[in-house]
Amino acid sequence: MSQRTKIKALLQSQQTEIDVTVKGWVRAFRSNRFIALNDGSTNNNIQIVVDFENTDPALLKRITVGAALSVEGKLIASLGKGQTVEVVATEIEILGDSDPEKYPIQPKKHSLEFLRENAHLRFRTSTFGAIFRVRNSLAFAVHQFFQERGFVYLHTPVITASDAEGAGETFHVTNFDLDNIPKTETGEIDFKQDFFGRATNLTVSGQLEGELGAMALSDIYTFGPTFRAENSNTTRHLAEFWMIEPEVAFNDLVDNMDLAEDMLKYVIKYALDKNADDIEFLTQRLTEEEKTKPQNERSEMTLLEKLQFCLNNDFERLTYTEAIDILKESTPNKKKKFVYPVEGWGTDLQSEHERYLVEKHFKKPVILTDYPKEIKAFYMRQNDDGKTVRAMDILFPGIGEIVGGSQREERLDKLEQRMNEMGIPTEELWWYLDTRRFGSCPHAGFGLGFERLVLFVTGMGNIRDVIPFPRFPKNAEF
Ligand code: 4AD
Ligand code: MG
Repeated sequence: MSQRTKIKALLQSQQTEIDVTVKGWVRAFRSNRFIALNDGSTNNNIQIVVDFENTDPALLKRITVGAALSVEGKLIASLGKGQTVEVVATEIEILGDSDPEKYPIQPKKHSLEFLRENAHLRFRTSTFGAIFRVRNSLAFAVHQFFQERGFVYLHTPVITASDAEGAGETFHVTNFDLDNIPKTETGEIDFKQDFFGRATNLTVSGQLEGELGAMALSDIYTFGPTFRAENSNTTRHLAEFWMIEPEVAFNDLVDNMDLAEDMLKYVIKYALDKNADDIEFLTQRLTEEEKTKPQNERSEMTLLEKLQFCLNNDFERLTYTEAIDILKESTPNKKKKFVYPVEGWGTDLQSEHERYLVEKHFKKPVILTDYPKEIKAFYMRQNDDGKTVRAMDILFPGIGEIVGGSQREERLDKLEQRMNEMGIPTEELWWYLDTRRFGSCPHAGFGLGFERLVLFVTGMGNIRDVIPFPRFPKNAEF
């Protein structure tokens, strides 16, 4: 019998008294008799009952935490508490030993920091098993949402010569010998001799290329890795993250907000249905963690309640200008409780301001629109007031900005004028401007930071814990 049954299926089995083969890793082994085995298909372990009196003691010794086993036996209704079925082993094979003196993941609580340093093994913990199953479901749900609506999944390039967001936070791509970089006569780096014959970088956004696709296919989305060399060591930033960027021809900002809100609700609902066990587990984890905080810092809702609340309530929509008024009048601002006082119209909101709006004032997700043009990218559609652009940011409780998007400037003259004002070379982006020359039309799109979504749904506090191998300043291990 080489056919294995996954532990998730075994635990749900209606049939008992059947022969089964089960394979997995030992989570715990107690009384020389009960093995808790897990294969990652579910957070729950199957209990293997060992007839230790008739088992070679040498073999028993090798059943250690972390070892990989193949077990043949009979699935029976369990007499013990805590499980409905268990496997009475008839044969145990050690596929891979695990030295208990050296194996870092013990059956006890490890700190998240410790597990980050052992990211190669942290998948074997209940918390990380749950996180990565939820992440998988969210990714699948994103595709399903867009596919059901007839969107085309467009693969935009990872290597590009543009900095779509204009923030100058790009990673260079080169195959120059770094000890011997060719220079021009005037002493500048001679990119003509580089692999692509020009300076290139890793993409910070697939949007510009996504827009080209939307100008023919109408509804597209991208879902790919995105790179930003911003040196922000926060719990919300990664140097490598995944972004979902839909772009839709003929949509205006209201359509764009509707699409984003529908998508977020759809994927959260999908994970709630598909990963009920994992979210239940993560809810308990967060509740335990919150108990270590002072009362006034604990959240009023459990994770599960937060997710359900998000599904059952419309997101609050208001303009940046309205938000500034609320913030200026707010108690923490008046009592000088913000680290950054609300400066007044024109400045970017700090995350403490965003979180005040979401968590304290409205107590639900918020969409802010019509930001000052000075703090937003060149491609956003200019409003008639001459001061603001058709931008939208979606702010989530505990996260802050989860989505950034806009209606795009489709008028060639306005777009060129803005690029000139901002010093963005129009010649280099000739291909982007061509869409405004040939059959331009209103269109809109947004970017969802996938890890920020996973943070929200799993209730984790640090973005480094929701991507398998996080990339951040001074860290590229694994
Ligand atoms: O607001 P951003 O910079 O918008 C864009 O890149 C647009 N081109 C999107 C578009 O309109 N098509 O980034 C979008 C989202 C943010 O709201 C945030 O969720 C996430 O990407 N994000 C990051 N996530 C993790 N680490 C970082 N360093 C991130 N920077 C942005
Ligand atoms: Mg943004």
